[in-house]
Formats: sequence, structure tokens, C-alpha cells
Amino acid sequence: PTELTGLVLDNLREVPDFPEPGVLFRDITPLLANGEAFSTFITGLAEHYRGHIDAVAGLESRGFILAAPLAYTLGIGMLTVRKGGKLPGPVLGVDYDLEYGSARMELRPETVQEGQRVLVIDDVLATGGTAAASIDLLERSGAQVVAVCMLLELAGLGGREQLPGRQVDSVVVYPSS
Ligand code: PRP
Ligand code: MG
Repeated sequence: PTELTGLVLDNLREVPDFPEPGVLFRDITPLLANGEAFSTFITGLAEHYRGHIDAVAGLESRGFILAAPLAYTLGIGMLTVRKGGKLPGPVLGVDYDLEYGSARMELRPETVQEGQRVLVIDDVLATGGTAAASIDLLERSGAQVVAVCMLLELAGLGGREQLPGRQVDSVVVYPSS
């Protein structure tokens, strides 16, 4: 969905030294707060994926902000891949490593229909750990993950390499940061 790149770039805010010194944080809150831009963005994504997907999987928590309006616009379901301990069982879970420490994502496999074509969506692709874990959960639950859509991709952190053979549609790609 590169036709949406300019729209996103026009509505991002770059915040130096957040959340720690030396890090340049790309803040998407201006895009969300601009009703016309947000609506144009979600509508554009919907037109891009319409007819190709049967459900949208949002990755907690910032992925939910994008997944819900996209699924609603397309009239299809939203799957919630959540952080560990948030979903009532039965759940499938995957633990994965972060730069410091570890994390866990979980999914209720009963929310997935066998063979369903699923789009995974999140705000940022960094190391790819969150997306890779989520795809694993979705496919173990019977989904067919047909594409991964990222609002921002921070290239150089290995995210794309964590998703070999996947269609990764990043609206904005930043060179290594
Ligand atoms: C951020 C971001 C992605 C993930 C990307 O989420 O929203 O989900 O990290 O990192 P990765 O590619 O290295 O896995 P975060 O865990 O900060 O939580 P949030 O969405 O709840 O803010
Ligand atoms: Mg996140």
C-alpha cells in the first residue's frame, strides 16, 4: 500500500531521545487524531486488501487500533493476538526473546476458522519477534496468513528476515535507525 506512504509521512511526529536517549521515536498519534487522514488511511488499506482476506489479526496493543477499523470497514472479523495472561482459555501461546528480556503472545484458537485467509497488522516492524510469534499462533490455529501489513518498518533490525517468504507490506520503511 505504498500509495498511502505520503499520507502517513505527513501525519507522523518524530521525537528524538524517546523513550531513551539516542532513540528516535516515530509517533503515529497525529495520524490517529486527524479524522480525515485516519479515515483515508483505513479506507485505502481496505481497498488494497478487499477480497483477498477473510479476517484481520491485530497485535496487542497498538495493532488493535488499526485492525479494528480495517476489519469493520471490510465487514470481516478481527482476531486479537494478545499479550500473555490477558485472554481466558483455552489459549495457544508463544514466548519469544526481546532485546532485553522476553515476551509472550497468546491467541484463542477457537476464534480462527480453518483455512481462513488472515492479514496480520501492527504499527511497527522492528526485530520481527512479535509478528513471527503471532503468525506462528495463527497458523497453528488453522489460519493461512496471506500478508503482514506494517504501518512503519524499521529496516536494519532484522524484522523482514524473521518473516522469510512472507508478503510484508510496509507503508513507510525507515533505513536502519
Ligand atoms: C511494539 C510495536 C510492535 C512491536 C515491534 O509493541 O507496537 O508490536 O513492538 O517490535 P518487534 O518487531 O521487535 O517485535 P510494544 O511491545 O512496545 O507494545 P504496544 O503495542 O502495547 O505499545
Ligand atoms: Mg505493539
